[in-house]
Amino acid sequence: MINKLDMMSDIQEILLTEEQISARIKELGAQITEDYRGKELVLIGILKGVVPFYAAMAQAIDLQLQQDFMSVSSYGAGTVSSGKLIIRKDIDIDIEGKDVLILEDILDSGRTLRGVVQMFEARRPASVKICTLLDKPAGRVENVAAAYSGFVVPDAFVVGYGLDYAGYYRNLPFVGVLKPSVYQD
Ligand code: IMP
Ligand code: MG
Repeated sequence: MINKLDMMSDIQEILLTEEQISARIKELGAQITEDYRGKELVLIGILKGVVPFYAAMAQAIDLQLQQDFMSVSSYGAGTVSSGKLIIRKDIDIDIEGKDVLILEDILDSGRTLRGVVQMFEARRPASVKICTLLDKPAGRVENVAAAYSGFVVPDAFVVGYGLDYAGYYRNLPFVGVLKPSVYQD
């Protein structure tokens, strides 16, 4: 069993500190509070990577809102998108007529969010928008844009603050680049 300090030896570079992330979340929360005033906001988080971001965003938005989660995956255990969307858990809330804001950890190829947005749109919500903590434009395959984006990240595999490699590193408090030697043989 290794601890967080041991996990640090797999990190090449810290991209975003806990402080930077929390300051940006406050800004996003204030913006969303303005934009959704008077609307029926439903925050839908894409599990599992979104968990820390979701918790902080829900606190940063000063509005009455509903919360739900969905579990989908376009990745196996690797670091390259397979392009296959698997729905493991759907939301419980009826979103018809409501303003849906999808929260995601990272927008990479856009395949996951394109699939999720299409699925939600069929349920006739008033609106569907995306709020992503990280945006990796270099990976984009689908024409998907986030209405709210925390940070643009370079074309590297990042972990921490919810983001994983093979299920690990999610509980690091920062976002860092994973050393390629960790996933290359
Ligand atoms: P997309 O469908 O290619 O946009 O991929 C989105 C999902 O892929 C995210 O929810 C993450 O789970 C995963 N992902 C993409 N890039 C990274 C990364 O750099 N680190 C960790 N997970 C990533
Ligand atoms: Mg993942």
